[in-house]
Amino acid sequence: MAGPPIHDLHFAQEPSVDRVPGPKSDRLREKQNEIDSNAVAYPNNIPLAFDEGKGATLKDVDGNVFLDFFAGIGVYNVGHANPYVNEAVHEQVDKLTHSVDFPTEPRLELIEKLEELAPGNLSGNSRVVFGGPTGSDAIEASIKLAKYNTGGRGLVAFRNSYHGATSGAMSITSNSKLKKHYAPLLPDVVHAPFPHPFQEGRDPEESVERALEEVRATIEQPYGGLANPAGIFVEPIQGEGGVVVPPEGFLQGLRDIADENDLPLVFDEIQAGFGRTGEWWAAEHYDVTPDAMTTAKALGGNGLPLSATIYHEDLDTWGPGDHAGTYRGHVPAMVGGVRAIEYIQSHDLLDHATEVGDYIRERLREAGEGDSGLGDVRGKGLFIGAEFVDSEGNPDDDRVEAIQQYCYEHGVLVWTAGQYDNVLRLLPPLVLTQRQAEVGTEIIADAIAATAEDERARA
Ligand SMILES: Cc1ncc(COP(=O)(O)O)c(C=O)c1O
Repeated sequence: MAGPPIHDLHFAQEPSVDRVPGPKSDRLREKQNEIDSNAVAYPNNIPLAFDEGKGATLKDVDGNVFLDFFAGIGVYNVGHANPYVNEAVHEQVDKLTHSVDFPTEPRLELIEKLEELAPGNLSGNSRVVFGGPTGSDAIEASIKLAKYNTGGRGLVAFRNSYHGATSGAMSITSNSKLKKHYAPLLPDVVHAPFPHPFQEGRDPEESVERALEEVRATIEQPYGGLANPAGIFVEPIQGEGGVVVPPEGFLQGLRDIADENDLPLVFDEIQAGFGRTGEWWAAEHYDVTPDAMTTAKALGGNGLPLSATIYHEDLDTWGPGDHAGTYRGHVPAMVGGVRAIEYIQSHDLLDHATEVGDYIRERLREAGEGDSGLGDVRGKGLFIGAEFVDSEGNPDDDRVEAIQQYCYEHGVLVWTAGQYDNVLRLLPPLVLTQRQAEVGTEIIADAIAATAEDERARA
């Protein structure tokens, strides 16, 4: 068995909240407000300063202990400070931390592991390129790869998507608010609809048909508008967009369109991948293999920054230096990635994520019975979204904000998502125990009930 069992990874007293924010958090926040950038965002929702993480638990500087249901936004898949990961990382830090792209044992070991885990026929036939350390960097690499191989320039992406904060990644992201100060970005990007049956009020089949028709028209119609396409870029399950799980047929439809038009199909697995959904990659739920895929977030093992683009070897046509970056050889992060993969495999965390995720979704649905505000509970494995609407069926972001507030005051850290911020998003570490899932979901269920009561009182 690689490392300790998941039950031994956490603070024992979870959750335990005295007063939030406590005096030390307040002090650090005040200082942050004085000296840090205005671009800081997360503490505006949850005004805490953290001190130490263990497994699925986080301690703030005042000693309050929380169940962590967002895990650094999908980074801590094997939990905070996983000792099996950390012991090897510590050793590596003392030996060598940076190697550009010279070969090191951890680098080659990680490439071999990723090749082994890659979905479908990518497994055994793939190459991996490391560029910069963030997910956005991997997206940039995938855009360059598609352009290099096709000679095309146009990119097909999807509404409700998020792919990162650099210029290329922002171009294929659909969130206009994030882009408005920086546009124009890459020219020739078309955003097709991503099937979202709940929001569209359509049945799943119709929703898929409509989305695929748009993609096909964009690429194939003489007046489709995209002159010189280079590839199709899609999150197999959308994360920031609100944990939107496309119905069967959508990804296969994209695969068919890509094949018929000789275009690479690129899956962004940065949030949905690396075990989060109960499979290594979200693509596996649909049995559809992309030509290239991006991964980051949990890849560095314990929060160390590392990203990669995994692609079919047929696309490996570029030459030395055609994709570069100083930080493409973060050796401790590569050690972390290998160790995280071993820990997930050794503790059967994919099946565990499936079981615990199913439990959480079921309990949330139960909590929403008779509450018309909880419109939809969805996701796979420990990638969970609960969408809230008001009495007219419109997005209810106030309710989600109130739930987030209640949860953090009672010891569970949850996050939001969705283009209207009306989706409660849960991304707990895969090492979350069944008991922690029960305790945490009970608090979320209480938050749902308490906020429903507040809404009734207001009406
Ligand atoms: C699906 C997806 N792609 C890309 C990114 C960008 O990754 P990073 O923030 O590491 O640049 C994110 C980040 O949340 C993401 O969720």
